[in-house]
Amino acid sequence: MFHFTLLAQDPQTRARRGRLETPHGTIETPIFMPVGTHGALKAMTPAQVEETQAQIILSNTYHLHLKPGEALIKKAGGLHRFMNWERPILTDSGGFQVFSLPNKKIGEDGVHFRHEGTGDEIFLGPKEAMQIQNDLGSDIMMAFDECIPYPATYDYSAKSINKTLRWAEICLQHHQRPDEQALFGIVQGSVYPDLRRQCAKQLAALGFPGYAIGGVSVGEGLELLKKVVDDTEPHMPQHKPRYLMGVGLPEDILESIERGMDMFDCVIPTRYARSATLFTRRGKIRLTNRNFRRDFFPVDPSCDCYCCTNFSRAYLHHLFNANEILSATLSAIHNVRFYLNMVAQARTAIEAGDFAAFKADFLGEYFSSGK
Ligand code: GUN
Ligand code: ZN
Repeated sequence: MFHFTLLAQDPQTRARRGRLETPHGTIETPIFMPVGTHGALKAMTPAQVEETQAQIILSNTYHLHLKPGEALIKKAGGLHRFMNWERPILTDSGGFQVFSLPNKKIGEDGVHFRHEGTGDEIFLGPKEAMQIQNDLGSDIMMAFDECIPYPATYDYSAKSINKTLRWAEICLQHHQRPDEQALFGIVQGSVYPDLRRQCAKQLAALGFPGYAIGGVSVGEGLELLKKVVDDTEPHMPQHKPRYLMGVGLPEDILESIERGMDMFDCVIPTRYARSATLFTRRGKIRLTNRNFRRDFFPVDPSCDCYCCTNFSRAYLHHLFNANEILSATLSAIHNVRFYLNMVAQARTAIEAGDFAAFKADFLGEYFSSGK
């Protein structure tokens, strides 16, 4: 049910054009996955998400386990049916969310923490993360890993990847439905090239249907992000999809596509939308700015989304000022469409064999700031 095909390789860079088949549909890569943490993209209906041409969305094991619980979602017929999204879903394992909690206790078998609401003691480890994701029924599940904070010492990072590797094996052993749900391994190793290589090689030996780079977008900045991807990518299997977790801004994504990454997710487009920051071909704009009060142009004149084809910047400025929740919906529709348009253009450029020129043009205009 899972098949990844490499369709084209850019001649001048490591950018790849691929196709991933899943039980709920085909994903053309490189792809951006908008985030619906609690089983919904904030402020958007599934029909609106579909209209942005999203091919796959991401949801979270940790949040859905706490509320409403995977048993209820299983009873509802699985996450796809519960949230009425019929296309592919990827679930993150909780490894990232749990490790960013303040009062967790990290052990050899997993993480103990307290429920934010009830205060109950909860344990999440590789076995639990697999059972929850099996119950949710996502198309792509992530292995339970430790997202190493930044900065971290070499010693801490070396010990941590051994734990992540051991947990990855436990995840494989406890996966109930490998034919219906693909399990991706996550490469950690902080900023240390030999740890990244070791982790990537040992995961590859376990034979996952896809691999992710984790432990980035943790405050290291674009230059180190590029270096980590450069150091890790050569050790990841060529013929399997590669997912760069939690990345990022448009420039981060384009730089990482150039370095051989296929899948991305980030809360930025939907989160920025709610705080009136919108992406355009000429950079980000802040719609609450008074300059937009009488600006009757669309948010981005080159955008084909429902927001840009029907409403003006002046109207959105007004909606934000009046605290109308429609501001969040229209802005999210636009920002998500902007990201999906960008990766669609990247796919076309890779097929044409000129990704480097596309990236230079795109970023040149994006950072021109000539409004
Ligand atoms: N999301 C962003 N980074 C990470 C990571 O390192 N691990 C997991 N599980 N999720 C992430
Ligand atoms: Zn738009």
